Amino acid sequence: MFNANTKSHLQKALNHHFPVSKNMRLKTRCALITGGAQGIGFAIAQIFCREGATVYLADVNKEVGTAAALKLREAGSKATFVYLDVSEDVSWKQVCSQFQKETDGLDILVNNAGINIRKVIEEMSAEELDMMYAVNIKGPFLGIKHLLPIMKAQGGGSIINMSSVCGIIGHLYTPEAYTMAKGALTTLTKSVASRYGKYNIRCNSINPSTADTPLVQEMLKNPEWRKERLGEVPLGRMAGLQDIAEAALYLASEEGNYINGITLPVDGGVTAY
Ligand SMILES: NC(=O)c1ccc[n+]([C@@H]2O[C@H](COP(=O)([O-])OP(=O)(O)OC[C@H]3O[C@@H](n4cnc5c(N)ncnc54)[C@H](O)[C@@H]3O)[C@@H](O)[C@H]2O)c1
Repeated sequence: MFNANTKSHLQKALNHHFPVSKNMRLKTRCALITGGAQGIGFAIAQIFCREGATVYLADVNKEVGTAAALKLREAGSKATFVYLDVSEDVSWKQVCSQFQKETDGLDILVNNAGINIRKVIEEMSAEELDMMYAVNIKGPFLGIKHLLPIMKAQGGGSIINMSSVCGIIGHLYTPEAYTMAKGALTTLTKSVASRYGKYNIRCNSINPSTADTPLVQEMLKNPEWRKERLGEVPLGRMAGLQDIAEAALYLASEEGNYINGITLPVDGGVTAY
């Protein structure tokens, strides 16, 4: 039976393993976020900065990325923009060597950059398919390939791949090339988690439903399509950027220490039925 004394001992033990304060959870951590200039990537950067991380925003969009990093630095955060085209091997190599010069290592890699060419399978050309694959699949593959050695050398790390509900279901409103790529990302996550867990490297995917970012803004201007997207969500609202970013924080932080290889829908229940 518990008495007050036992409870206080228990509480002490719990406090030892599960710190009460949730502030500055990433204080000593260094993170690289691809597609960090805007949208979901920038939201993750903001939350990671809030928790004290050193953050690299890696993106092809120099102008927006530089302004985003400046905004974070002006708020007192340690944020740097770095040019990266995730689909180019040489670009990853350059970022890795910059990283090795400037940092003690890399704790968190968020493979977030992604594109969508909104054409169904019958209309999409082979060249467009190659572009979708280059950014959405080859990008995360190369990122993991080049940054794993750094994580291995330092004794661990957390890799987060931004998949989608389309990486779980054959989403009715989404082009086949996108669901195919996001499905591949979901399983890439699991194979990396399986092989590299022994190095204390965790690899997980986040699978959001529609969130209002530049990626979908054009599409959502169509009231019909907006209605369709809202109609599929049991919670009745689009995914918030903060909803997705807080999930990334969980997977990146100590709290997610034993989570490896999961497919985490942040989707208000879209994939629940
Ligand atoms: N917005 C949604 O509804 C939604 C839902 C599920 C999953 N996702 C996924 O989340 C991720 C982020 O999406 P978002 O909505 O924030 O998109 P976004 O278009 O707002 O931002 C994507 C960022 O990626 C960058 N980028 C594009 N190609 C790149 C490349 N080759 N190299 C480096 N950076 C590149 C862009 O410049 C941009 O800053 C994507 O992988 C997307 O597929 C988005």
